[in-house]
Amino acid sequence: MHTVRESSLCHFRAVTVNDAALQPVTAPGLQDKAVALSDRVHWIGALDPTLRSFDIILKTANGTSYNAYVVRGSEGVAVIDTVKEGFSDVFFQRLESVTDYSEIKYIVLNHLEPDHSGALPELMRRAPQARLFISQRAQTMLKALLKHDAFEFTPVMTGDSISLGDRTLSFLHTPYLHWPDTQCTWLVEERVLFSGDVFGCHYCDARLFNDSVGDFRFSFEYYYAHIMRPFREFVVQALELIEPLDLHCIAPAHGPILRDRPKQYPAHYRRLSSPMLHSETGHEKTLLIFYISAYGSTARMAEAVYAAVSEVEGVRASMYDLEGGEVAPFVDLIEEADAILIGTPTINGDAVKPVWDLLSSLAVIPTRGKLAAVFGSYGWSGEAVRMVEERLRGLKMRVPVEGLRIKLIPTSEELAACDKFGHAIARELTGMQEDRIVEMA
Ligand code: FEO
Repeated sequence: MHTVRESSLCHFRAVTVNDAALQPVTAPGLQDKAVALSDRVHWIGALDPTLRSFDIILKTANGTSYNAYVVRGSEGVAVIDTVKEGFSDVFFQRLESVTDYSEIKYIVLNHLEPDHSGALPELMRRAPQARLFISQRAQTMLKALLKHDAFEFTPVMTGDSISLGDRTLSFLHTPYLHWPDTQCTWLVEERVLFSGDVFGCHYCDARLFNDSVGDFRFSFEYYYAHIMRPFREFVVQALELIEPLDLHCIAPAHGPILRDRPKQYPAHYRRLSSPMLHSETGHEKTLLIFYISAYGSTARMAEAVYAAVSEVEGVRASMYDLEGGEVAPFVDLIEEADAILIGTPTINGDAVKPVWDLLSSLAVIPTRGKLAAVFGSYGWSGEAVRMVEERLRGLKMRVPVEGLRIKLIPTSEELAACDKFGHAIARELTGMQEDRIVEMA
């Protein structure tokens, strides 16, 4: 097992000017002891201050923490989540500072990703009497992730609860935040929500609590944008369960423990997950055309398509030249749009880089079911339209109208085809498709 010790990371690094940001994690006094949230609840997680990227795609300028917790009741102890495997030693040291293994009655995993389940096999070995609780959707993942046949577990759903005597843990089914298996656990008597990745962020600070750590607002929003945003509809469903809770504290699986004004965090998630455009577009369907053009031919197609879709009642169309725009604001627009059209030339047998840059940025937003279509001018073979269509289908978008390809400069007949193409898409969007003749033979 690859073991990482916080203390070696924190105390023996050569401190330079560039390391100044790491200073808070060397705060004295944390050592390898558990940290109390209350008489009955302790943090037993691990700090990872030097991590600079998480899951490859996420930058972590402040490192991260793997938060785990212990709850003590009159009839036993529960452990909520574990840590990444390499940080097991400090996790067990903190655990041992507040309980004997023989006292552990329950282990709850809110989420099976390895940064939280890494120490589970060893914990189960040390506390074999403990019962493991996971979400219904975690069942098939458990064996696949941990490669372990011997674990017995109990799957739980919203409304299920377990008792530690004078403390009760109840479960909230909050799938796809951000894996299918994710759930939250509510400590009823102390009004603490162990929220897993929800309300978490990659921000390592040994002062642990949101009223003590540095300014982590950027990390909180960055984490939401990359981890939760693709599952916005599930965020909204989870908030329906969480907002009614009289929160005293939110204890997430990463980043600061949110004990000061905890209700502001679900409120912030509500804002982040709410559509912004509805008040501007009313009941109209929003359709966005993104194009780029080498010699003006794809641009002329875009203008013809734009004119066509704009004629259809109930469609609000907008058009953007990718050559003049940054990708990030376009991604925000696409998140709330009902349809997108992509106009791309074919150069060297491919769509051009700005188009791929845009498409590769769409993984952070929900795209399933959006209407999409592709058009473009080409010189020889015109592969780009088909390639982009495949990518859009890969994003689970609906591509019901075949892409329109025009060789070099569009003629008036071909511009008429663009008009027909635009009207066909607009009708799909508004649900006013032309009657189709079905060949019954
Ligand atoms: Fe923090 Fe999804 O694991």
